[in-house]
Amino acid sequence: MRGDIVLEGVSKTYEGKPVLRDLSLRFEEGKVTAIMGPSGLGKTTLLKILLGLESCEGSVTGMEGRRPAVVFQESRLLPWLSLKQNLELVCGPGKDREIADALALMELTDAADKKPAELSGGMQRRGALARAIAYGGDILVLDEPFTGLDEDLKERIAGKLSRQWRESGQTVLFVTHDSTEAKAYADTIVKLNEGGSL
Ligand SMILES: Nc1ncnc2c1ncn2[C@@H]1O[C@H](COP(=O)(O)OP(=O)(O)O)[C@@H](O)[C@H]1O
Ligand SMILES: [Mg+2]
Repeated sequence: MRGDIVLEGVSKTYEGKPVLRDLSLRFEEGKVTAIMGPSGLGKTTLLKILLGLESCEGSVTGMEGRRPAVVFQESRLLPWLSLKQNLELVCGPGKDREIADALALMELTDAADKKPAELSGGMQRRGALARAIAYGGDILVLDEPFTGLDEDLKERIAGKLSRQWRESGQTVLFVTHDSTEAKAYADTIVKLNEGGSL
């Protein structure tokens, strides 16, 4: 079992503007944590720091050697590949079963051979979710994963995902500005305030 992910005294400044200020946080292994806060407060920045995609002051421990499965705020499907090929690229060979299962879970089986431009925004979002699920990392990091999905679909998709998280005991961090979503699917809610503090 891996340990918790711990941030200590994390600060980030962009072009002289402080975004995160002396943030200390613990994300528990095997738990689902929602990171909340209005736009522009540094939620995406926090995820990027955790993933090692941004530098920061302070320390982050517990991410060493992990294989994170990530859904970025933008779906980031490669436009020249079909949906299925996008998943294959990330998963590598021998993952046909995982890819088919993830596409079915996200209700995209019939769209597998379509290019991203032929899919609606919501379908692209579900495609990015399917890619992360099929990859099956040891921590799932999701930046506003359900934004852009129709309301009824959102509940169904989020419900299926959260059941999967419970069954697998996966460590999940997801960003949302919807408190109903945070309460429904997270064990712990972390609220970022102005200036990136807790
Ligand atoms: N690469 C960057 N260069 C300069 N400023 C940035 C960069 N990324 C984010 N910011 C700024 O940092 C702040 C926090 O951004 P972000 O983490 O994306 O917020 P959130 O995800 O909470 O909406 C915003 O003011 C944003 O403009
Ligand atoms: Mg963001």
